[in-house]
Amino acid sequence: MRLNKQKFNPITALSILLMTAVMNPVYAESNDEQFELGKQKAKVCMTCHGVDGISTQDPYPNLRGQKIGYLISSLKDYQTRERTSGLAILMQQQADTLSDQDIRDISYFYSMLGKESNSVSDSKTDSNSKL
Ligand code: HEC
Repeated sequence: MRLNKQKFNPITALSILLMTAVMNPVYAESNDEQFELGKQKAKVCMTCHGVDGISTQDPYPNLRGQKIGYLISSLKDYQTRERTSGLAILMQQQADTLSDQDIRDISYFYSMLGKESNSVSDSKTDSNSKL
């Protein structure tokens, strides 16, 4: 198979880059710190999204193991009022209190939740899963 004949897909490239960055052992220590930091900052979120990122109420989505890029862009969309549907008003108020750094830390925390035990096989099935 000639890989260089395949079309370059920027999204795939970005996800691979992101995954490499997240899983690179060189950054393990600072990642642990970011996880703890995110956990502290996410205390307020847990009242609705659950202490383990699995919400106990139907209208509140689960955040556990969600893609970090999706979490970040969702929170920014609430801040900029790009997301207005349904119960988005609840999240707009939440997102308004967050700095860009808070968003990065919290998103990192939720994206890593549940990944501790089975990181590699998990991310493989994730990228193949369809709704
Ligand atoms: C008062 C309850 C409540 C609190 C507190 C809360 N959220 Fe939410 N969150 C919601 C609801 C309801 C939605 C769905 C809103 C919608 O329809 O867009 C949501 C959606 C989200 C989404 C989008 C999920 C998706 O799958 O699209 C993210 C990300 C999120 N919340 C993160 C957070 C973070 C981070 C915090 C803490 C800073 C937080 N939330 C605090 C109720 C809450």
